[in-house]
Amino acid sequence: MTATAEGTAATAGLVDDPLVRVSDLTKRFPVGADTVHAVEKVSLSIGRAETLAVVGESGCGKSTLANLIVRLIEPTSGRIEIDGVDITDLGTRALKPHRRKMQIVFQDPFASLDPRRQVGKAVAEPLLIHGVAKRGAALDETVRNLFEVVGLEVSHIDQFPHQFSGGQRQRICIARALALEPELVVADEAVSALDVSIQAQVINLMMDLQSERGLSYLFISHDLAVVERVSHRVAVMYLGQIVELGSRAQIFEDPQHSYTKRLLAAVPVADPRKRRDRPLLTGEIPSPVWKQGTGPQLVEHIEVEPGHMVAREE
Ligand SMILES: Nc1ncnc2c1ncn2[C@@H]1O[C@H](COP(=O)(O)OP(=O)(O)O)[C@@H](O)[C@H]1O
Ligand SMILES: [Mg+2]
Repeated sequence: MTATAEGTAATAGLVDDPLVRVSDLTKRFPVGADTVHAVEKVSLSIGRAETLAVVGESGCGKSTLANLIVRLIEPTSGRIEIDGVDITDLGTRALKPHRRKMQIVFQDPFASLDPRRQVGKAVAEPLLIHGVAKRGAALDETVRNLFEVVGLEVSHIDQFPHQFSGGQRQRICIARALALEPELVVADEAVSALDVSIQAQVINLMMDLQSERGLSYLFISHDLAVVERVSHRVAVMYLGQIVELGSRAQIFEDPQHSYTKRLLAAVPVADPRKRRDRPLLTGEIPSPVWKQGTGPQLVEHIEVEPGHMVAREE
């Protein structure tokens, strides 16, 4: 229950030969005459078998970043590489073999599953879409294996989503994400809606899958207690930009940016004697909406230690 992600070479904050490399990734959404600067020049990498967590408050751009990386939405500018291949400008057909390597699991498994489709069919679907398997005994066997891998009863394969609990439904979504044997799984608040005990079980499953399969995770969460358990490295986002990035130890034990310190101070601590001064983040987050021709000031990063990047503060 209290196990944390095992250290990897990436724990030092240095990633050689990363699975994913993102450079100056930017996404702006027009809203009327104004522009939402959702993600501004984000650069990061994700190592093999590494969990990079992205933390920050609601609206800071975490989901937009996730959707950009798996190319569910188009970037305004910047570059995304996976396995050394620049996939930024690939069209649907050229993207297909690369898309298999990256799967995403969302917060709400119920919304991700078709209520009228048996869950075994949902898990088989990506294999059929990608032409990896044909309907038949071999596919059924693959799906049964996936059910076992995620700790679900194989006999429940013909049931429908509403017949499962929230935690089981998230396991179904994980099984479907694993079907194509991805290298990267993006978990966008994937355990955030689950009860604490169920959350711990799903996290344990994800960490087991990582050590068995060498999976990389982009683990998006606003919950720092969860992030401290699962992450090898952590990126702290604020208003579309990364204000601090480092190993789990660098972020949790030696935070440098004032925003990271505030986020950490807001984590609820069970023991009242250890509670810190500031119980919650206070104050409005400034808006990411800007008038044409204006925009946020871009942060400048300083490397305070190898792999520990901190945005310079005034
Ligand atoms: N399709 C969209 N159109 C306009 N604004 C959007 C769209 N998607 C996200 N945004 C805005 O971009 C910002 C970042 O959103 P999001 O990435 O969902 O943040 P997070 O996941 O950290 O809560 C927010 O201000 C949000 O309102
Ligand atoms: Mg989000």
